[in-house]
Amino acid sequence: MFTNVEHSHRGHDPEAPVSAGVSASFVWSDARLLGYGPMDETHREFYQVAFDLLTCSGATAAMALEAFETHAVEHFGEEEEWMRSTAFPARDCHVEEHAAVLASVREVRAGVEAGSMSVETVHDLGMHLFDWFPGHADYLDSALAAWMTKRIMGGQPVVLRRSIRNS
Ligand SMILES: [Fe+2]
Ligand SMILES: [Fe+2]
Repeated sequence: MFTNVEHSHRGHDPEAPVSAGVSASFVWSDARLLGYGPMDETHREFYQVAFDLLTCSGATAAMALEAFETHAVEHFGEEEEWMRSTAFPARDCHVEEHAAVLASVREVRAGVEAGSMSVETVHDLGMHLFDWFPGHADYLDSALAAWMTKRIMGGQPVVLRRSIRNS
């Protein structure tokens, strides 16, 4: 899943056209890393599946929507479980944003499946997701990432002891 997003944009040819099949590494930046590994991996995957919405064709739109929805359910469910299991304060706003995104995705997916929405709507959805993500990550996910990192550091203190046997 991550094979296309392992490399940064540094290797990208600036003359190459933007077209379907181009890697999501085109839009991913390590500036998006929040410092909590499991969340950062999920966010790289978000860029891949959102990018697939942006570049899908009429023939691949339904598949791209299904893949994005599967990702979103796992991504949001994972963060919400971290919040619940650690009693993270002020969860409501974060959970509401996730729910709103999932509702939009499901609406477009239903529309495409019913034939009432075109691939252009799927591309618009992809654009909106890329507009939405940085604000969400900077204001909501980053607080959760810091909280989780602090818990891990606090739960596993690094204790340096001189070995009695070897001294
Ligand atoms: Fe997230
Ligand atoms: Fe989130």
